[in-house]
Amino acid sequence: MEITWHGHSCFQISNNGTEVVIDPFLSENPKATASHEELNATQILVTHGHFDHMGDAVEIAKRTGAPIAGTFELTGWCESQGAKGANQGANIGGTVEFDGGWAKLVPAIHTSQIEGGPCTVSHGFVVGIDGKTIYHLGDTALTGDFKLVADRTPIDLALVPIGGFYTMDRVDATTAVKLINPKQVIPMHYDTFPPIESDPNAFKSDVESNGSTEVVVLEPGQSHKI
Ligand code: NI
Ligand code: MN
Repeated sequence: MEITWHGHSCFQISNNGTEVVIDPFLSENPKATASHEELNATQILVTHGHFDHMGDAVEIAKRTGAPIAGTFELTGWCESQGAKGANQGANIGGTVEFDGGWAKLVPAIHTSQIEGGPCTVSHGFVVGIDGKTIYHLGDTALTGDFKLVADRTPIDLALVPIGGFYTMDRVDATTAVKLINPKQVIPMHYDTFPPIESDPNAFKSDVESNGSTEVVVLEPGQSHKI
């Protein structure tokens, strides 16, 4: 399957007609190379209500009919804005199923408010597609919960924020990778805005000198196959 990074925390997982789009922050992202109007989606996952994660989720859902999975309060708000697909309003600890896979909402430590809407709760997603597991950490601080999540479900690919300021920085993220021990990592949530500038290649050398995990550094628009 192919994982495309659209910049910031937005990833698209493509596998045999399944198109999972996570945190589709595109139209207001200065670094995005894709437009939300051209994005194909069969399932949308949103980790929390902040504008840089909710992004264009409602617009993509309206155009494609793809359901939005997230917390109950977040999907309820999306419905009030016109996203009328078969949305999965779940909660942390729960698993949602979709055509081609599943996604489990797992803990993250972070705030969340929808622009013009309610405060909600942040989380990450463990996504299972075709026997592979992908852990999108969302926005989060370093927490020992990462180990518990990965003990429960061994992780092939982790998508890890490294920008600092709003999330853990790349040094904390190196410890996070040790706790998760995935086969591969793609860093995210850095260099979009000045407060979150980071060095993905320094993160790569720190992680790779520390264990067997491989770090794959992408440019927005690039893809990686697992
Ligand atoms: Ni956030
Ligand atoms: Mn964010």
